[in-house]
Amino acid sequence: MDDLVLARVVHVVAVVLWIGGVAFVTTVLLPGMKKTGAPAERVSMFERMEGGFAWQARLTTLLTGASGFYMLYVLDAWERYGDPAYWWLHAMSAIWLIFTLMLFVLEPLVLHKWFERRAREQPESTLALIQRLHWVLLTASLITVAGAVVGVHGG
Ligand code: HEM
Repeated sequence: MDDLVLARVVHVVAVVLWIGGVAFVTTVLLPGMKKTGAPAERVSMFERMEGGFAWQARLTTLLTGASGFYMLYVLDAWERYGDPAYWWLHAMSAIWLIFTLMLFVLEPLVLHKWFERRAREQPESTLALIQRLHWVLLTASLITVAGAVVGVHGG
């Protein structure tokens, strides 16, 4: 197995774990929260449950980015960033950047406190907002995965 194949394996396995986790949180965990406990406690309960996944997501995001940039280096394909035909590479990089910012900067420094404060005043709409945000990120991620597979294999 050469370096490129190994990097591709790491890339796809990390993406499966990461986006699969986002899909579980969006389609199972968040809708399930509506049926548990008092509305005022749901956001902090959700944050405690999602906390375990956040660590997995940080690791898989790092692995996805490292393997992705390594593939660009081995393929010497940096000029693809200047070609609109490689929109799926731009989409992959944008999704990666958004999640990296969310997981490493915004969530721990800003969003955690902001959601907690907002949840005390408007618990139901805060959970609905978190749910909408997850749907947007999941949809964009799945379109990106589909675009990348077509881009790499579909000619
Ligand atoms: C900075 C972040 C990223 C970089 C630099 C990157 C780079 C790459 C590269 C160079 C390839 C191989 C292209 C080729 O063989 O011609 C690839 C494949 C792929 N990437 Fe990414 N990627 C990144 C993030 C992501 C993300 C966030 C996702 C998912 C949402 C993703 C999903 C995929 C998929 C599904 C493939 C196709 C694998 C295959 O079928 O062979 N990548 N990526």
